[in-house]
Amino acid sequence: MAKQTPKKHKVMLTGVRPSGSITLGNYLGAIKNFADKQGLFKSYIFIADLHAITEPRQPAELKAAVNQCMAMYLACGIDPGKTVIFRQSDIAEHGIMGFIMAFQTRLGELSRMTQFKLKSAAGGKSGVGTGLFIYPALMAADILLYDTDIVPVGADQQQHVELTRDMCQRFNKRYGAVLNEPDAFVAPVGNRILNLRNPLEKMNKSDCSDNMGTIFLSDGADIARKKVMTAVSDGLGLVKFDQENQPGISNLISILSCITGQSIADIESRFEAQGYAAFKSAVADSVCCLLRDIQERYRKFNDPKVLEDILSDGRARAEKIAEKTCQRAKTALGLA
Ligand code: TYM
Repeated sequence: MAKQTPKKHKVMLTGVRPSGSITLGNYLGAIKNFADKQGLFKSYIFIADLHAITEPRQPAELKAAVNQCMAMYLACGIDPGKTVIFRQSDIAEHGIMGFIMAFQTRLGELSRMTQFKLKSAAGGKSGVGTGLFIYPALMAADILLYDTDIVPVGADQQQHVELTRDMCQRFNKRYGAVLNEPDAFVAPVGNRILNLRNPLEKMNKSDCSDNMGTIFLSDGADIARKKVMTAVSDGLGLVKFDQENQPGISNLISILSCITGQSIADIESRFEAQGYAAFKSAVADSVCCLLRDIQERYRKFNDPKVLEDILSDGRARAEKIAEKTCQRAKTALGLA
């Protein structure tokens, strides 16, 4: 039986779906946490382009989104010297392993995933694409192929990492200690950045308010400032972290805390005697400063030759590990 060999280093992995521009939520919930820890682990980050085709897309748009995602990773501080950066569809084992993992799960488990429930509540189950339904099996494959220990994600993806653990345990129980069981890393602050116009909803790549509730890493300073200054607050006039009664203000406090590293308590006391205008202005300053730095680096890295070289190196390095793990799983199943 082909089992895992002991590892020298713990492995960290995450990915973003290139289904539009990267948001401040993606950055604060996942990419920043990954970038901060990348030197501590054997690190892999990928562009989850197979996940982006769960809905039909214009091919040219998808290609552009893949390049943008790649350049944004670099602009956000992902360092190819410390992290293997690759495109999911470059590694055939994701498809094979995704198929294998689909058999380690049950209809009931997949039906309980929030993303599927939300889509089927909106339009009825029969109209939901199969891709969205089996998507967690592909995500499990992404994680398990690299013997991952830690997966930095936002709160919305934690459920998928939990299901990955279940699939992994089931596989190992049936076929031996073949796959490594991962843990999600969900940061205590910033794991669910909310829509600025509707703080009862998560900040998503698209929203119903002409994207005024979503900050994109590519937003210009004027538009980003406007989005923050017009963010929904409340009539209480208190800069206080109270997610139940003041979701909009609490969201802005989380954003400021993540960007500046100040604690929530320090932010509350700093703005204790000040109104929302001064507070929002400080949040807008921090966001604009962050975006300016990211965009400066983005311009530097957004060169097709540079991106292609990094991706081809990432592909070679990721492929080696993915091939080994997939072979181990196939051997355990009797397929090799
Ligand atoms: P995606 O592309 O929707 O989001 C990428 C990452 O950003 C986090 N995120 C947020 N965090 C805080 N607040 C928000 N408003 C917010 N919006 C998004 C997500 O939780 C995620 O961590 N299925 C994944 C991509 C994926 C993946 C993987 C991730 C595919 N395979 C394996 C980790 C490991 C997705 O669609 O993320």
